[in-house]
Amino acid sequence: MRYLYNLATLALSTVFLSALAAPAGSFKPRFEWDKIKYVYAFGDSYTFVGGTEGYPRWSFIGSAFNFSYTPQQLLEDEIQVNVTGSDGASWLEYLTGCFQGRPSECAPRQLWDFAFSGADVDKNLIPLHHNFSVDLVDQVREWALYGSDVIPHPAEETITAFWIGINDTGDTLNNSTLDFKAFWELEMQSLFGAVQNAYNHHLRGAYLFMTLPPLERSPDHIGNPIAPIYEQNIKDYNAALLNHSAHFARTHSDVNVFTFDTHQWFYDILDNADQYGFTNITGFCECSDPTFFWFNTGHPTARVHSLLAEAVEAKLRMDSFV
Ligand SMILES: *[C@@H]1O[C@H](CO)[C@@H](O)[C@H](O)[C@H]1NC(C)=O
Ligand SMILES: *[C@@H]1O[C@H](CO)[C@@H](O)[C@H](O)[C@H]1NC(C)=O
Ligand SMILES: *[C@@H]1O[C@H](CO)[C@@H](O)[C@H](O)[C@H]1NC(C)=O
Ligand SMILES: *[C@@H]1O[C@H](CO)[C@@H](O)[C@H](O)[C@H]1NC(C)=O
Ligand SMILES: *[C@@H]1O[C@H](CO)[C@@H](O)[C@H](O)[C@H]1NC(C)=O
Ligand SMILES: *[C@@H]1O[C@H](CO)[C@@H](O)[C@H](O)[C@H]1NC(C)=O
Ligand SMILES: *[C@@H]1O[C@H](CO)[C@@H](O)[C@H](O)[C@H]1NC(C)=O
Ligand SMILES: *[C@@H]1O[C@H](CO)[C@@H](O)[C@H](O)[C@H]1NC(C)=O
Repeated sequence: MRYLYNLATLALSTVFLSALAAPAGSFKPRFEWDKIKYVYAFGDSYTFVGGTEGYPRWSFIGSAFNFSYTPQQLLEDEIQVNVTGSDGASWLEYLTGCFQGRPSECAPRQLWDFAFSGADVDKNLIPLHHNFSVDLVDQVREWALYGSDVIPHPAEETITAFWIGINDTGDTLNNSTLDFKAFWELEMQSLFGAVQNAYNHHLRGAYLFMTLPPLERSPDHIGNPIAPIYEQNIKDYNAALLNHSAHFARTHSDVNVFTFDTHQWFYDILDNADQYGFTNITGFCECSDPTFFWFNTGHPTARVHSLLAEAVEAKLRMDSFV
């Protein structure tokens, strides 16, 4: 079946996309970062980009009130410049070169970003922040219903990033009755249920799971007595995520599964801030001053996004051909 992947005609063709659905256990496409043309993403404000068909300043497309969209709305949706969690370009925009306009016209890669700002994993586990919010489970469900047959995702040219849990660990922090470790397990069941849904709708090729950054070091929480609990919760969430992504890799031998340790990467930068030109890592500036690490109380600056994109790309190059 390998030859099918080269068919130029597969773009937008539902027939071909379903023909490409390899049964589980069949061959795993060789991952080569330079061949990747389609980057899909699900997540929260660290990942979202604004779109002309989105909920203004919260998503690229759709909301709880506009859950369905037409193929035309999706294909004509335009990424709005710097409408992100940091009012600058985001890591996925740097990674793809897709900063503005229709994703299908981006080079070298198209960015199809279904992340919703403020999203938690599952509204059945943590209530939505707003009545228009779309949690991660529904981001995937929405894509599966209205997007999966519209935009291409040939296995050898596609990678899908999941970065979620930042709001979940924040929202639950003060809940003194919660059994956190048991809760992260519940979250993983929802999260990997969503990943399975994406897989079932033939989003194959490669998956990238990002761990949570150390938000206890954000201006919001630095020096706060609750910070050590936050730190531990984030570590436990990450351990659960890595466990489940390894399990997913073992049980889905026809996809490449990668992880990026954002947690360690943030530590490296924050602990060696001078070397990276950051002179302020405890305060924040809602400005474009490149010496600030934090843009606001909970989001890093565009420069951090740019460095993160470089690090993720380097990792994906290392993961190529293995
Ligand atoms: C739904 O989307 C349309 C544009 O696609 C927009 O005009 C409308 O205001 C949206 N409705 C809500 C409730 O967000
Ligand atoms: C978008 O943000 C980036 C990074 O902060 C900046 O370099 C660029 O000038 C901004 N673009 C516009 C059009 O504001
Ligand atoms: C989570 O989402 C909201 C937006 O709904 C945002 O304001 C908040 O700072 C986010 N972060 C954390 C860590 O909860
Ligand atoms: C959504 O919430 C806002 C304010 O929180 C409220 O004004 C609005 O009526 C709600 N919309 C619906 C459809 O429930
Ligand atoms: C949790 O409690 C800390 C300390 O009182 C506070 O700073 C923080 O805003 C609270 N977080 C949430 C999500 O309520
Ligand atoms: C805290 O967690 C418990 C157990 O999951 C849940 O029933 C409760 O609603 C949560 N409380 C808050 C304030 O979120
Ligand atoms: C790891 O994940 C599997 C399911 O994927 C689960 O059964 C197991 O309990 C988890 N292990 C730990 C140590 O949490
Ligand atoms: C970091 O920035 C904040 C906000 O502007 C400021 O209050 C603080 O003094 C700065 N810290 C350092 C070490 O420059």
